[in-house]
Amino acid sequence: RHVIYLSRHGQSEYNVLGKIGGNPPLSAAGDEYAVRLGNWVPANVWRQEGKIVQARLWTSSLQRTILTARHIPHPVLHFPPSSSSLHSLPLQPRPRPDDEEWEQTAPRVYRSLDEIFAGEYEGYRYEDIRAKAAKEASLRSLDKLGYRYPRGESYYDIIQRVAPLIHEIETYHEPLLIVSHQAVLRIMYSYFMGLPRTSAPKIEIPLHTVIKITYDGFSPPKEERFFLG
Ligand code: G3H
Repeated sequence: RHVIYLSRHGQSEYNVLGKIGGNPPLSAAGDEYAVRLGNWVPANVWRQEGKIVQARLWTSSLQRTILTARHIPHPVLHFPPSSSSLHSLPLQPRPRPDDEEWEQTAPRVYRSLDEIFAGEYEGYRYEDIRAKAAKEASLRSLDKLGYRYPRGESYYDIIQRVAPLIHEIETYHEPLLIVSHQAVLRIMYSYFMGLPRTSAPKIEIPLHTVIKITYDGFSPPKEERFFLG
């Protein structure tokens, strides 16, 4: 039985401005979500039936997911206390020799969990793309799954870079929390829920919400959503 928790990063400064891509920090509301997540996770993810269980925590390499996960405590997880520590990326604390359990559950930062890369349109708002490059905007709306941003990525590219992680996840049985981005989580959500990839690019993955997916490969996957405000 697998239990996977998916969360987008807290609201970023680009979300507020309606911009895509980039590597912005969190807005004040996003920071509040990070605090709420830090309180929610120990009680709901790390603790199962009254016991602390081994669990895994993965983020992307972009600061908005790392900042979102930074308040999450764990007996063996130590995130930097504030954004000023971000220069110390990657976040894995130094491995303690001979402690395999510790190694396995140390938080991991994966570039393959980064948001879809919009190439030449990084930092644009959708209306700017429509105004400056109407053809690109209409190509994307005709085939959102297959459209690749000039010098950037398509949803197919995300499927490809996320596939090795999905194979890795299939070998785990500890709960796993992934803090990532909407496009990547659309792909992961579709995979775990058994939905076709054609519908993935339009699935809404709301902010400030943890999606818990439970599946065993036999019965239909189950999902629960926890809105943390
Ligand atoms: O910033 C990008 C979004 O999370 C991905 O959304 O593929 O619907 O443009 P989109």
